[in-house]
Amino acid sequence: MREKHIIVAVSAGIAAYKAIEVVSRLRKKGAEVKVVMTENATHIASPLTFGEISGHPVAIDMFEQVHQWDVEHIALATWADTYVVVPATANVIGKIYAGIADDMLTTTIMATKAPKYLCPAMNTEMYNNPITQRNLEGLQALGYHIMEPAEGWLACGITGVGRLPEPEAIVEWLESQMCKSNELEGTTVLVTAGGTQENIDPVRYIGNRSSGKMGYAIAEQAARMGANVILVSAPTSLAVPSGVDFVPVDSALSMQHAVESRYDTVDVVVMAAAVSDFRVLHKAEQKIKKMESMTLELVKNPDILQGLGAKKKHQILVGFAAETEHVIEYGQDKVARKNLDMLVANDVSKSNAGFNVDTNEGYFLYPNKDPKEMPNMKKSELAHNIMKEVVELVKNK
Ligand code: CTP
Repeated sequence: MREKHIIVAVSAGIAAYKAIEVVSRLRKKGAEVKVVMTENATHIASPLTFGEISGHPVAIDMFEQVHQWDVEHIALATWADTYVVVPATANVIGKIYAGIADDMLTTTIMATKAPKYLCPAMNTEMYNNPITQRNLEGLQALGYHIMEPAEGWLACGITGVGRLPEPEAIVEWLESQMCKSNELEGTTVLVTAGGTQENIDPVRYIGNRSSGKMGYAIAEQAARMGANVILVSAPTSLAVPSGVDFVPVDSALSMQHAVESRYDTVDVVVMAAAVSDFRVLHKAEQKIKKMESMTLELVKNPDILQGLGAKKKHQILVGFAAETEHVIEYGQDKVARKNLDMLVANDVSKSNAGFNVDTNEGYFLYPNKDPKEMPNMKKSELAHNIMKEVVELVKNK
């Protein structure tokens, strides 16, 4: 999103207030945002707020004297490299498809060459109306990107389709559409994520602090690059990235089964999961009652990645390692032991790397190439760098 010029155009849906958070989230991701509103939208959400949040004056009136631009709607249209309408009402969708340009929103969208994204939001009957559907299909055929509205409670008091998705989902969708490439088209990438859970009894388990953020970011990035993505995930609190085939698991053994049963058909495996090295030998069938002391006997779990390395054919294997010292030396040993094509070795002794934080740092290690140092960066950025390396590994296979 960094350095992107995004126009957020707001039409008069009751969910217009959600666009404020969309603007804020886009700016936090580094985009520059200018807001265009229809006159009616200003009765629902305040242009003042949009102005404050975007850091730019809000464009509403076609005939207002603005000094910094000669012809404002053309200047805005040229400035934009992305144009998103959020929410897009039935009226605005109809006007855009009919080629009507009678206000700032409809003139700027007609004048811009930027890719266009619409987030429709309206009453269910209006959304299902064949006229709206025809307009949306027509716009799609013209290259407009349309986000599916969500289902749920609508302001008109009914429950149905037509709800504007949450700002976080809108921004995620936008990002996935904007940053799409076809570098991994035709490649199947299996990603594991999260920390496995080893049951003690029906209500307790042994777990670890993995949040799943790294694996989910990798799955999302791989999908953006056009790969078919299978996300095998231990329980997390994260939303499943759009466009991935989701396989929920819990224990190391269930993860092993999910991965191995798909291994022959995948091209790349990225093992970002924190797999428990042990499981409880005798799981209690019933909840264990309080007692003075107890001992759990643990047995070793299989090393899933090492097993995959041992029977590797065409696959590319990427592993992760959490180290607190001798990061390169210990990591390089894992590359050899697990027959990996690449290892992301994290230095978790740093407070801003590893488990349960949003950033990471460390090294990319290879069997026969020099290590690459990865400075501290966001997990989403690291995911991008990891998948760029995977693209190279796939190319050179
Ligand atoms: N892994 C696995 N199955 C296990 C344990 C780990 O597939 N039972 C995978 C992880 O998903 C990760 C890599 O192996 O990709 C981590 O290797 P591991 O040797 O466990 O490294 P550390 O977690 O750093 O642990 P240690 O140093 O104790 O070996």
